[in-house]
Amino acid sequence: MERTTRLVNFDAFHQGQDMDLPRTINPPIFRGSTVLFDNFAELSLANSGKYQGITYGTDRMPTQRAFEEAVRELEGGALTRAFQSGISAIINTFLAFTKSGDHILVCDNAYAPTVHYCTQILTKFNIETTFIPPAAGEEIQSYLKDNTKLIFLESPGSNTFELQDIPAITTLAKKRGIITVLDNTWATPLYLDPFALGINISIQSATKYLTGHSDILMGTVTTDHPHAATLQEYYRITETYTAEEDCYTALRGLRTLALRLRQHEQSALAIAQWLESLPQIGNVIHPALPSHPQHQIWQRDFSGSSGLFAFTFKEEYPAEKLAAFIDSLQLFGIGYSWGGFRSLITAAKYNRTQTSRYAGKMVIRLNIGLEDPGDIIKDLTAGFEAMT
Ligand SMILES: Cc1ncc(COP(=O)(O)O)c(C=O)c1O
Repeated sequence: MERTTRLVNFDAFHQGQDMDLPRTINPPIFRGSTVLFDNFAELSLANSGKYQGITYGTDRMPTQRAFEEAVRELEGGALTRAFQSGISAIINTFLAFTKSGDHILVCDNAYAPTVHYCTQILTKFNIETTFIPPAAGEEIQSYLKDNTKLIFLESPGSNTFELQDIPAITTLAKKRGIITVLDNTWATPLYLDPFALGINISIQSATKYLTGHSDILMGTVTTDHPHAATLQEYYRITETYTAEEDCYTALRGLRTLALRLRQHEQSALAIAQWLESLPQIGNVIHPALPSHPQHQIWQRDFSGSSGLFAFTFKEEYPAEKLAAFIDSLQLFGIGYSWGGFRSLITAAKYNRTQTSRYAGKMVIRLNIGLEDPGDIIKDLTAGFEAMT
């Protein structure tokens, strides 16, 4: 009995406060639902929404706050909130910034689950989506309606890597009071500054480069000043939060982002250039290559490139040949997602609503990891030999 009572009364939070806590470099992880107040006066303040401290487990615990602040600073935005995945960040941005009766534009090469959410879920709330060409610019004017509320861009877009003309679109949107959102996962804020290009809301799938080790899922939404209050209030009301362990992991990943990204960039470029020299390759689809159809836009708007790109073969090979290539690779994992230290490969055909130069073609996507680029080239060479 005595033992049970002691366990029930154990108050780790207060014990922790009384102790001389070690000053670790990374923030400690706070696990908890209930957060204890010191007295009735503090509880009363919390009840009236005036308490300055953290009131509950959903009120963004300290490691989450540290991670969000680090991303906000990196993005150069006004407010950042963390979500449980990249797609959750995207979905919640739609929910926070649109309402029934609105019309939105979404680039045709957006991440497929983003597209599916628009066509299958937003329609239930009477929000209409029009898909715009993957390399859209000024011509989006003809897609605008009186009730167009938001434009969602992803540049370069998923798997076929077309770039939109972001400044042309944001200039037009600003004149009409339309909110612009960018999924900036490929470039990260280090290689593309969305706010400098007039974007209002910047999204990261932190699952990818920000975290960098393929061990958690997380997303971030960062707004400019005019849109900060809406996101803040939405997040508070929906009591969204992200797990402290994941925020810790993501924050640790952020520390090495610049170094990792530089290596991903160098290795991917070397491999893309080598692929371009091979006779059996059709297109190498990498925005930093002069052969990319929107390379000039990349040169103008981006300060670097990351480790994800694609290629097509000149010939459309049967499935057995593709399998011989992919299955023989030793360094490449076969799997979704990207941005981590391990090289990955996927292959698919992409159906778009708009005409695409890659229509009907098998697009092989490579996530170039942190392995030695010479070893990666050897692995791919052996893979191509396995096809013959
Ligand atoms: C461009 C892009 N945005 C968003 C996402 C979704 O991120 P998550 O896997 O964290 O939900 C992905 C995932 O692959 C992606 O490629």
